[in-house]
Amino acid sequence: MTGRVLVTRRVFPEVTELLRCHFEVEDNPEDRILDAEGLAARLADKEGLFSMATDRIDAALIRRAPRLRAVANCAVGYNNIDVPACRARGIIVTNTPGVLDDTTADHAFALLLAAARRVAESDRWVREGRWKGWVFDDWLGADVHGARLGIVGMGRIGQALARRAAGFSMRVSYHNRNRLPEAVETACSARYAGQDELLRESDFVVLTVPYTPETHHLIGAKELAQMKPGAILVNIARGGVVDDRALIEALRSGRIAAAGLDVFEHEPKLDADFLRLPSAVLTPHIGSATRATRMKMAMLAAENLIAALSTGAPPNPV
Ligand code: NAP
Ligand code: GLV
Repeated sequence: MTGRVLVTRRVFPEVTELLRCHFEVEDNPEDRILDAEGLAARLADKEGLFSMATDRIDAALIRRAPRLRAVANCAVGYNNIDVPACRARGIIVTNTPGVLDDTTADHAFALLLAAARRVAESDRWVREGRWKGWVFDDWLGADVHGARLGIVGMGRIGQALARRAAGFSMRVSYHNRNRLPEAVETACSARYAGQDELLRESDFVVLTVPYTPETHHLIGAKELAQMKPGAILVNIARGGVVDDRALIEALRSGRIAAAGLDVFEHEPKLDADFLRLPSAVLTPHIGSATRATRMKMAMLAAENLIAALSTGAPPNPV
């Protein structure tokens, strides 16, 4: 035993069993949502925290966790954690990169296809009993094959997405702050573009950037106006990367044809106007949600926590 740890949300039993081989574990099998007060009360005597992207680990919470030495986030994104405040207290922070790339890229592609071919909208229409007969020029969507895909944030997930695009004969552009090595561009059949150029030329724009002060509202009214008329936007990154109100206006006016959205600015609260927009395909932040991938993420987070507290050298420090 090297200390006490808190697991904030329900996880698979295999994960808590592994943690129990090393620590005294307080878990949350009922999956109660812990507010700041609830988290602080439970963290007061803990050395380790197994957190989820829904937990806000800020400076105020850290001040109330005097024994805390490690935070293992069960997510690749860690915008829910005040990393500088942790660092200042010597608290190790870890995430789960790599194990969810393919699953998340699969979901980005599902959103892209659903938005392009109006899958969710036509499914609702059929269920409402409105299909009275086949119509030649109804339900026209956008071709995915041969179209230009623009990836903003071509990291691990973005590259997995580019590899999938090759199967649809798509032409791929990407934008990062730093250009990738030529070998990676060649492997992904992707060419570098400035953000403005990418927005102007792409039929589909997919966002896979982390949420940081720099990427807050990276896509707002100005950027949506730069997009090709009738283009499609997919956000698999984080709410807040897109200005939701500006997107709603762009969808309402038809400036862009559709959007596939897995993340929202104030999730799980949704701007109700999204619900009234048939051209928006909405999923509840499920990019990595397959059993196999969630298991890999949770096991990796547990391994990070064990290593952080026992050796101080976890595999995935941020
Ligand atoms: P990653 O490998 O770190 O890739 C992020 C990419 O974004 C990098 O290529 C980075 O390149 C680029 N980037 C960062 N800041 C940028 C900026 N200001 N402008 C343009 N490009 C920028 O991360 P990842 O593992 O692919 O994950 C990406 C994000 O996806 C996560 O942080 C998480 O928020 C989100 N995610 C969501 C789900 C879901 O369920 N919806 C699942 C997994 C991940 P440069 O540093 O060169 O700019
Ligand atoms: C999920 O959103 C993640 O960042 O892993």
